[in-house]
Amino acid sequence: MIVEVNGVERAVEVAADTPLLYVLRNDLGLVGSRYGCGTGQCGACFVIVDGKAMPSCDAPLWSVAGKSVTTVEGLAKGGALHPVQKALLAEQEPQAMLVEFDPIIRFSVWEGALTDLSTNRLDTTGLDEVSSGIVGAGRTADLADGAALAAGDAGSGATISFTELRQYSVFQVGRDAGVPLVLAAAILVLVGLLPALYSSRRKVWVRADPDGDGSLLRVGGLAMQRKPQFEEEFDRLVGALVSSAGGRRAPDPGAGGPGPDQREPEEHEKVQTP
Ligand code: FES
Repeated sequence: MIVEVNGVERAVEVAADTPLLYVLRNDLGLVGSRYGCGTGQCGACFVIVDGKAMPSCDAPLWSVAGKSVTTVEGLAKGGALHPVQKALLAEQEPQAMLVEFDPIIRFSVWEGALTDLSTNRLDTTGLDEVSSGIVGAGRTADLADGAALAAGDAGSGATISFTELRQYSVFQVGRDAGVPLVLAAAILVLVGLLPALYSSRRKVWVRADPDGDGSLLRVGGLAMQRKPQFEEEFDRLVGALVSSAGGRRAPDPGAGGPGPDQREPEEHEKVQTP
């Protein structure tokens, strides 16, 4: 595909929908246009196409076929810098960003009736550009109609202020789709644990030792909650054990040994069977 850049027709072997910015930088070596936002809003990649400034980051190559593209490298003519380049140099000498931060703004004044009220991009269809220029902090630029565009100081017309201007800003927008799922799972786990807080945990164990012709059963029990109720429950259990074994009950509170979990039982009984 042939594309005219800075007055020269250049042949490039790329897909027609390749962004113009990629072609300029990667295929033609014109790295003055830079990648910034990638959405046509920051101006880092702007080029002039048939006299109109436009972002090259979201312009496919086919959209400039047959048109004249001018990059920042093509602004200087016959060794003389373009007025915008001169203004940039006049307003801001090349300097290390960390030493001093003195921003400038490039502006254009358009006249006419707006047909597209989009806040992202100015549709200049039917508009006339009546002036343009660059204004830096603390300086004022005159607009075509005599009003003043000022940066830093309040001028007689529109004013641009650098409010809380910082050298660098970092923005991060994140969304983790798994968070609601994890939150729901955590809530379910907590809800599942609630019954355990209100349930009554108790243990009962029985040990049988030879005793003459019969056996001596030692019964122990341990309750973590509701101990008074457990005493009755334990008593009924021992009674049922005695009757089913056909033996007799021999209360002996001091005879209970450690149970299977090595803890001292709260209740203990001896049952002697024939
Ligand atoms: S990269 Fe920001 S406008 Fe193109």
